[in-house]
Amino acid sequence: MTDSRRLADLADNLACRSRMGLSKVAGSREDLAQLMDAVMPAAPTPRFTSLAQVRQWMGECTRCSLSRGRDKIVFGSGPEDARIMFIGEGPGAQEDRQGLPFVGPAGKLLDAMLAAVGLRREQVYIANIVKCRPPGNRDPQAEEVAACRPFLEAQVKVIAPAAICTLGRPAAHALLNSDAPMGRLRGQWSRALGVPVLPTYHPAYLLRTPEAKALAYADLKALVKGPTP
Ligand code: URA
Repeated sequence: MTDSRRLADLADNLACRSRMGLSKVAGSREDLAQLMDAVMPAAPTPRFTSLAQVRQWMGECTRCSLSRGRDKIVFGSGPEDARIMFIGEGPGAQEDRQGLPFVGPAGKLLDAMLAAVGLRREQVYIANIVKCRPPGNRDPQAEEVAACRPFLEAQVKVIAPAAICTLGRPAAHALLNSDAPMGRLRGQWSRALGVPVLPTYHPAYLLRTPEAKALAYADLKALVKGPTP
């Protein structure tokens, strides 16, 4: 159904319910919020000077349906002045329970990958393209990524990292607006949100495909070295 058709239906619904003396509108808050987002011009993203302000702006977000299944919002972790930012796809079960990114098995491997190139987790900022767990750890859907994007963009603006490393296909595709295969994207510098971006494989993929670890190691070495001029 088109947005104008849905809006007309909503107007009919409201008029009918008001005639019947009912004050509440049928449909969930999320449905209505999504509908209003679709028909109203998006409000410009405010200017933030701290991650705490971005987190406050996000609030107990219900902008997409992932909010219904989450336990905790996984906003991100790390220092506000981190020079390197990692962006994964979305929280898994353990992240959802703890409210922290990459704390499950993939996170343990990420820690080891960081250590292999002389980095510690406390030195980098880690976030995801969606802040709530997709059911069954499926890939985030386009509308979920779009709903969360203003928060990711605000995080990147505040942190202003020297480089971003995307972990896995959904994060690379979302950030670079590309649908190229990971085999082509990984290890290649490009730019997004004004920051050099280097995609590499997701640690969960590396757990399933250990033979790709050497490529990911090469990518992280290139990341630490910085973009080639
Ligand atoms: N996988 C991700 O992409 N992000 C997390 O936070 C955890 C697992």
